[in-house]
Amino acid sequence: MHDQASRLRKMFDSEKTKTEKENYNSASRVIAVASGKGGVGKTNVSVNLGVSLQKMDKEVLLLDADMGMANVDVLIGVTPRYNLGHVLEDKCDIEDALITGPEGLTILPGSSGIDEFINMNIYKIKQLLKLASHLEENYDIIIIDVGAGAHQGVVNFIKAADEVIVVLTPEPTAIMDAYSLIKILSKNEVRPKLNLIVNQVDNDREGDEVSKRISSVIKDYLDLEISITSYIPYDNTLREAVKKQKPIVNLYPRSRAGKAFTKSAGQLIDRDVGNNAGMQGFVNKVLGFFKS
Ligand SMILES: Nc1ncnc2c1ncn2[C@@H]1O[C@H](COP(=O)(O)OP(=O)(O)OP(=O)(O)O)[C@@H](O)[C@H]1O
Ligand SMILES: [Mg+2]
Repeated sequence: MHDQASRLRKMFDSEKTKTEKENYNSASRVIAVASGKGGVGKTNVSVNLGVSLQKMDKEVLLLDADMGMANVDVLIGVTPRYNLGHVLEDKCDIEDALITGPEGLTILPGSSGIDEFINMNIYKIKQLLKLASHLEENYDIIIIDVGAGAHQGVVNFIKAADEVIVVLTPEPTAIMDAYSLIKILSKNEVRPKLNLIVNQVDNDREGDEVSKRISSVIKDYLDLEISITSYIPYDNTLREAVKKQKPIVNLYPRSRAGKAFTKSAGQLIDRDVGNNAGMQGFVNKVLGFFKS
């Protein structure tokens, strides 16, 4: 059911898909996965949530937009031939760039630089809009691994999403950097819904302490609420899964971290409020931000 050919047939069978989707909420749910500090676990979060959501019967696209160190493909052990840049340059078709990963998760490798968006010509913009509408029709959820930090390119990507998951660890530096990123987002009029994942916790109590600390500061100083909070324990089996280039939710589903990722994906589904701007909203907003 999840093979590439059937997905592509579905993708280009637009008339039928459109009618089906029109009866329903047609916008995908676009979720950016971000962090202040690097190395806290964004890519593992993106891949394992993506795979878990696929298992829950959602069609998920994972866009690897970490331009500095794109490495979704490394985590699942594939070598992409093409990326988003090739699609926009018309050097390949979208179906050549899409990779089918575990459980039918689709991965679109990003291109070399976010800054490319600044110099987009009209042709590329048209390609991007066309691509957005194809993706919208075929995926319920689009997860974007945006990479670490708070530079303008990353912030523009986060602002354009329906939701952001800010990943942090209990280390003071990771908490401070997460707060700084959220503070930058709070200054913008357009704000995605804010979710937190505290990764590498010793236990749920530590997760609670970290999330209470950060959510009270965010509430008091920025007047922002966090929608969903999840904790992922520090787990050596996750490191093993990384070495074996397999998602932990598949390799060790009963491990502490494996179960926590599954629970977190369930929370995301339970708390879907709909009303999303989707992929077309995302692209329109990104283009607008980079122009201004
Ligand atoms: N819950 C965890 N338990 C144990 N180790 C973990 C956990 N989460 C992440 N790690 C370790 O941290 C490493 C980095 O994780 P990951 O690549 O997902 O981080 P990242 O935030 O995407 O990094 P970057 O900012 O470089 O993109 C993993 O390879 C793994 O060794
Ligand atoms: Mg990463």
